Amino acid sequence: MEHLTMIDRLAELERFGKELEPDQEEREKLTCAAFQYADAFIDSLAEAPGYSEGELNDLRSLKIKETPGSMEQLLGILHDEVDNAGINSASGRHMGYIPGGGLFTSAIADFLAASSNRYAGISYSSPGAVEIENQVIRWLTSLVGYGPASHGTLTSGGSIANLIAMKAARDFHSINAANIKKSVIYMAASAHHSLLKAIDMTGLKETILRTIPLDANFRMDVTALFMQLQDDCEAGLEPFLIIATAGTTDTGAIDPLNQIAALSKQFNTWFHVDAAYGGFFMLTEEVKHKFKGIQKAHSIVMDPHKTLFMPYGSGAVLVRNRHALLDSFSQHAAYLGDAYGFDDIDPSDCGPELSRHFRGLRIWLPLQLHGVAPFRANLSEKITLARFFRKEAQKIGFETGPEPDLSVVIFRLPGDRDNSENQIFLKELHKNGKVFFSSTMINGTLWIRCAVVSFRTHLREIMEALQMIRNIGDSVFRARENAGYENKGCHLIAV
Ligand SMILES: Cc1ncc(COP(=O)(O)O)c(C=O)c1O
Repeated sequence: MEHLTMIDRLAELERFGKELEPDQEEREKLTCAAFQYADAFIDSLAEAPGYSEGELNDLRSLKIKETPGSMEQLLGILHDEVDNAGINSASGRHMGYIPGGGLFTSAIADFLAASSNRYAGISYSSPGAVEIENQVIRWLTSLVGYGPASHGTLTSGGSIANLIAMKAARDFHSINAANIKKSVIYMAASAHHSLLKAIDMTGLKETILRTIPLDANFRMDVTALFMQLQDDCEAGLEPFLIIATAGTTDTGAIDPLNQIAALSKQFNTWFHVDAAYGGFFMLTEEVKHKFKGIQKAHSIVMDPHKTLFMPYGSGAVLVRNRHALLDSFSQHAAYLGDAYGFDDIDPSDCGPELSRHFRGLRIWLPLQLHGVAPFRANLSEKITLARFFRKEAQKIGFETGPEPDLSVVIFRLPGDRDNSENQIFLKELHKNGKVFFSSTMINGTLWIRCAVVSFRTHLREIMEALQMIRNIGDSVFRARENAGYENKGCHLIAV
């Protein structure tokens, strides 16, 4: 009797639980609705603004309930209150921060990866999924010029990739309680703040952190770095780590990698290059030479979700000597004994994650389907568009930063010593929202940033951007004059 009750109970639970396994007809309905939604969204990008404020009404009042919801209603909310609120990161008019990508073929790969849910942490579990990840890693290591002793791992982004590199550096140089207070890290103020977080999370905050000044092109000043290294050695300190950036977030500048590599060798430090934004520009003939020396770095970070146009959640860290990575992260567990002893390097030995998304597929599938050539063409186009934007902005009358190393241009209304007009200008740009720009403060000067990174940014979007900055810039000057303020002697002219 008790047995029968149990069987009845199981049948009832199975019936309820099967809601999670839609049948073929239901699957077709759901995928049709989702794919139609994605299609319409992508088609809308041709005219959609880069930024819109949006309101979260239905979304905020929608509760997670015990009972099923409606796909139609949920897609409606997604459309109105998610995909049309805030920065449109899939848009070619997103030119702020470092825009993300969003290749359709990568979305298909994510759908497939989530459907099969291959476990890509250990080769025994899914040799094919791990081979796909490792193929992507080998393609990346060959791109930067690393040899066969190198390896790396795919991460959720540049911040986690930087964190993994910091830990590998710390462990390789045996930084511990006995030597940490004498150990010195060198980086420029232009380095990404994720490195400061990584230094904190790896317990390296107690080291001495030297901020190396920048030259007139916003690149690390190598003479200053050399002098600091020398002074520190004379003072009995121990240089441990030099961090350079190949494509800074603020201005896209590439630090002089080859010279820094030589100093790293001379002073026996770990050399890390954060190429999260810049790294993939190595694919182009135009700027490949600017990365000379990157292959001498001990670790390199690159973000496929930046300049390889993949969706967010795609980063990578590469390490020249794979043992430095494996020794830092490899751990064994008794319950995984039967999964060890296979030939491939397990991704779970190369970073903190055990269970992990099968993220290799979202990079591998687009590279296989499209080939590398269109990625290269897109990156060359971004460099040329950025140079074009800078020239045209100068012609209109804007002050600009130096010729960009890559595809970030900084510009501002001229003659504005206290930044007040540029503050208003930025606010008005955001209020308009057609093209989205961000800003940065360099040595007390507010600059507007135009980051040409999206594979959907072409000449049309750049012309729209130029028209917009001219119109809004002009109205800021005119409003000031009408309010009776002193004219600072600047005007913008028609494009
Ligand atoms: C140079 C650089 N490094 C690291 C990062 C952090 O990358 P993520 O946002 O993928 O964590 C960024 C982000 O913009 C960056 O520009």
